[in-house]
Amino acid sequence: MDAIFGNIVLDRLLSQPLVFGLGVLGVVLVVLSISVRGLQRRYAFCNDQAKLIKELKITDLRLKLLQSAHISQQGRALAGTEPYLITCGKYQELVISQPAHVHDFYRSDYKVHGKPRNFNFGGLFGRFMGTAVGLRFGDGWRKIRLHFDPPFKFHEAVRRLGIFQRETVLWVGELSTSSSTDLNARSEFKFLVFRLVAHHLYRDAFDDRLYWQLLELSHLHDQAVHEILICKSHESRYWTLFPTSVRKSVDKFLSDWRGLNRAVIHNARGGKWDCPVEEIARGFDPSKDMTEEDFLSTLGEVLFANVDVSASVLSTTMTNLAANPSIQTELRSEISKWKSQGEGGFSKYLTNSGTLLHRVIMESMRLSPAFWFSMPETTGEAKQIGGYHVPANTTVIIDNRRLNEEAVTWGDDGAQYRPDRFLEVAPQALRCGFMRYGTSAASGRCLGKHLADLIFKLTTVAVVERFRLESLGVGEKQLGFQNRDAADVRLIKI
Ligand code: HEM
Repeated sequence: MDAIFGNIVLDRLLSQPLVFGLGVLGVVLVVLSISVRGLQRRYAFCNDQAKLIKELKITDLRLKLLQSAHISQQGRALAGTEPYLITCGKYQELVISQPAHVHDFYRSDYKVHGKPRNFNFGGLFGRFMGTAVGLRFGDGWRKIRLHFDPPFKFHEAVRRLGIFQRETVLWVGELSTSSSTDLNARSEFKFLVFRLVAHHLYRDAFDDRLYWQLLELSHLHDQAVHEILICKSHESRYWTLFPTSVRKSVDKFLSDWRGLNRAVIHNARGGKWDCPVEEIARGFDPSKDMTEEDFLSTLGEVLFANVDVSASVLSTTMTNLAANPSIQTELRSEISKWKSQGEGGFSKYLTNSGTLLHRVIMESMRLSPAFWFSMPETTGEAKQIGGYHVPANTTVIIDNRRLNEEAVTWGDDGAQYRPDRFLEVAPQALRCGFMRYGTSAASGRCLGKHLADLIFKLTTVAVVERFRLESLGVGEKQLGFQNRDAADVRLIKI
């Protein structure tokens, strides 16, 4: 019935030439305006020879996280070493991969760079990440960092060396009770950095019970991230209002996280405990510019968002040491040389950037950057990047994995594990050619860099001193998604 009625109305309309004409004109205008806007957007990015920038259209920006290698390869095939645009509906992000582009991006306007709302990942992601420091910029960023920086400062990290050392030795001691053990480096070390950062931040409040509660929360966190990455309609602001299963996962994590920290802070105040988390929480007072949400979101980012990032670095270190026995031998003798100088000598060893140990960790970080593509950041002023005109307020992402292997900085063997390359590369080339804890003007932006460096080094020392590592022949690069937990390293007691 409806169909018949619809057809009659349509027939009537079409039989009136004026209405029909206006309708067609309307459709043409809409199509034209969309294509003109698309072209205008792209025309804003041309070089001095009026060459238009290349454009890679993708269906979902989350593919940058889910299919990073594929997107990166497509970008390289399309644009070579030039910058290119990734576009997805109303979003566009400029992708850069060369040290010279990184230099252009941070030149002159770094202090006024911004970040797109929710990193362009939609409302659910925004609800989950809240007002964490990593999504902030300008004054909002500075105010949060003021509260969180103190326990992460270099001297604070070094002051806690004894505890970190005790904990890493215990952890490594538990890896093997027999003369040889096969293990998957990624899963064995997954929660080591997490445990030590939690210990560092909760201090007197930290015990086995709290650790298990945090592990449980880490599981909820990962579950929510997984659901956000695969759910449909993640973009819609209104969708987040419905009690979907993904929203329930997000809200469960947020409310359990809030409950746990409120209880810890309450107990720490009652017992007058030494507890940095409680000290940071004294900044809640709105006159001190930090809300409870700022505090909880940032603390969540600190603890949960770095588990996999840190696990990758340790796994890359162990699998590559296993594949390179001569580096292991050299490292072992370097360690015993420094240790023979007593306690003071050992802490100098850990903070010395001229050692093989330092190069081993740097090389692992080069090959396992925190994210394949950096989180998006916007330019503050109109500028040229790689010869292309780039308007102010353009969202830019760095293909970190390419940057960290590019021949212009690393030579032709940039994909190989070779720690001594750091003896050859000029320090100034690292500034824009190496993404570690940030790059260029933002090279030190990672809050946990000093802690992470110390823990990586202590763990490597503890392993190499006790075990000879042998490769089981399934290096990180060959591991598919299915068998990421397969054993890849054999530990043989020395
Ligand atoms: C102790 C463990 C770690 C903690 C607590 C930590 C914490 C953080 C936090 C809170 C941020 C946001 C900083 C801000 O925007 O103000 C951040 C950014 C970052 N972190 Fe870490 N992180 C840790 C380990 C790592 C590791 C192992 C890597 C590298 C493999 C890494 C690489 C980065 C990068 C690249 C950024 C982004 C910097 C930028 O915005 O330019 N982090 N980290």
